[in-house]
Amino acid sequence: MASNKMWYTIAIGFLLPFSYAHTDFFTSIGHMTDLINTEKDLVISLKDYIKAEESKLEQIKKWAEKLDKLTDTATKDPEGFLGHPVNAFKLMKRLNTEWGELESLVLKDMSDGFISNMTIQRQFFPNDEDQTGAAKALLRLQDTYNLDTDTLSRGNLPGVKHKSFLTAEDCFELGKIAYTEADYYHTELWMEQALKQLDEGEVSSADKVYILDYLSYAVYQQGDLSKAMMLTKRLLELDPEHQRANGNMKYFEYIMAKEKEANKSSTDAEDQTEKETEVKKKDYLPERRKYEMLCRGEGLKMTPRRQKRLFCRYYDGNRNPRYILGPVKQEDEWDKPRIVRFLDIISDEEIETVKELAKPRLSRATVHDPETGKLTTAHYRVSKSAWLSGYESPVVSRINTRIQDLTGLDVSTAEELQVANYGVGGQYEPHFDFARKDEPDAFKELGTGNRIATWLFYMSDVSAGGATVFPEVGASVWPKKGTAVFWYNLFPSGEGDYSTRHAACPVLVGNKWVSNKWLHERGQEFRRPCTLSELE
Ligand code: OGA
Ligand code: FE2
Repeated sequence: MASNKMWYTIAIGFLLPFSYAHTDFFTSIGHMTDLINTEKDLVISLKDYIKAEESKLEQIKKWAEKLDKLTDTATKDPEGFLGHPVNAFKLMKRLNTEWGELESLVLKDMSDGFISNMTIQRQFFPNDEDQTGAAKALLRLQDTYNLDTDTLSRGNLPGVKHKSFLTAEDCFELGKIAYTEADYYHTELWMEQALKQLDEGEVSSADKVYILDYLSYAVYQQGDLSKAMMLTKRLLELDPEHQRANGNMKYFEYIMAKEKEANKSSTDAEDQTEKETEVKKKDYLPERRKYEMLCRGEGLKMTPRRQKRLFCRYYDGNRNPRYILGPVKQEDEWDKPRIVRFLDIISDEEIETVKELAKPRLSRATVHDPETGKLTTAHYRVSKSAWLSGYESPVVSRINTRIQDLTGLDVSTAEELQVANYGVGGQYEPHFDFARKDEPDAFKELGTGNRIATWLFYMSDVSAGGATVFPEVGASVWPKKGTAVFWYNLFPSGEGDYSTRHAACPVLVGNKWVSNKWLHERGQEFRRPCTLSELE
């Protein structure tokens, strides 16, 4: 028995890691759904354990009741009781064997099945890194979508099916994670939320003193001395002996006094320059802000005049025999750079097949480290992806042909079909798909030149968030299941088109599946002849 179980454990221990090559659960919903199933199995196993434990207790109870009655009668008249020979025999039997059996029953471990299940499954549980990753994803979403802490904590998000809220304890946990990242802005927000929920009477094991300790420090770190002092005072009301708080209080008073002194002697001229830099800060919109605004559906830079020149049409792939009788729907999404969307271009069945082929191979997406030239994971690209070759499935091959027919570009020099799954918080920050002049080696191994164009299938709708945005030009493209977008990354001269800089916004609610094909320069010489002018 024991060796059997051992073998089983070892076998599972060897087999499972292949399907979970990397943990990084938080990066994709695909793998997280496996966890839901694991958890369900564990609940069943736990319930079985409870049942076994209950039936064991039931047996013990019955025995105790029986013995209770018996000993009651016996102790009232021991001699009379034992005068019955059967009673004498039964007393011997009970004490010699039955109490021993009861002892075994009491000692019997009913938790075996559950514990061994737990041990096996636990090896594949998310770790601290996953928990931190999921917390950081929440903080990222909060920033990108301008969600106030209370909205997020109460779970009031657009398009959610299963409402869920954060306890004061959860908020405290998020605050602590922000704190360990030295992110005092979020530390303050989340500690404050934890405190607020406790003040509103939420029953919790979270401790106000601890929360105030973090909160006052985060506030101090951000330069709000008087608020830090006020919070420290509050802490000291709850715990007058708190050593650090007492020390901090003295320190804050000292700094405050010093600042007052310095303020008195500051000149008007200094105030003036301060104001000027303030204005400059507001005028200048860094890419990050543009990106986040577009993700929220703000800051779109399309004029009605230009909008009028965006059309939709039936497209036959430039008289491609496969599409003459059944042309496809094509829409202009944007003019400069030109982005077109194909509608109903991949069927639900094809999507399912592609997802099923990709699922077992999904692993954390990587990027080229410009310093080492090696592939690494990066916080700015959070998703899981897999590559599918046309040789492994007629569906993939059919999809490749479709891309070739509709773009007029040779797909034999393209990269394989990349399938990507973004979980909640999954994103890809602004980037170019093509290699810049300062990184000529990026696609050297492929030997097919630079990435001339990008074809991107949307294989799911996304409940909220998850747009593909182009911050340089103020464009955003919303995912729609069954459609695909296409754009050229290079001008006909081979020069990179910097207006194609784009990003995948973090998924706020739901789950995003895409697949993309990067087409390369080689093979397109006669399909898309180059021109002499650089930026044409
Ligand atoms: C990419 C990319 C956009 C998206 O994978 O290079 O830009 O919306 N994806 O997933
Ligand atoms: Fe991209």
